[in-house]
Amino acid sequence: ARITYVEFNGTAHSVEVANGVSLMEGAISNGVPGIDGDCGGNAACATCHVYVDGAWTGKTGTPNEMEDAMLDLADGKRDNSRLACQILASDDLDGLVIEMPETQH
Ligand code: FES
Repeated sequence: ARITYVEFNGTAHSVEVANGVSLMEGAISNGVPGIDGDCGGNAACATCHVYVDGAWTGKTGTPNEMEDAMLDLADGKRDNSRLACQILASDDLDGLVIEMPETQH
C-alpha cells in the first residue's frame, strides 16, 4: 500500500509498504525520519506514535488496551493517536496519510 508519512515540519514521504508489514517497519526500511521503533514493534516504547488522518481512522481501527495504555504515556496523545507498529499495511490502507507528533523530529 502507498503510505504517506508527514513529518512534524510538514515534509511528506510517500512510500510503498508491503501488505502485512507494520507502518513502523515501513518507515524504518524506507528511511522515513521521525519513527524510531525502539521496542521492535511490541507496543512498548511509543517512539512510533503517529496521528492518523481523520479520513482514515475508520479503516485503521482503534487501539487495543495495551496500545492505548502506551499512548497514554506518549506526549501529545490525541483521539486519532496510534502506534505505527500496531497498524499493518493492507490494500484497504492504500493512500493512507499519517502525521508525526512534535516530539518525534
Ligand atoms: Fe515501540 Fe511501536 S515500535 S511502540
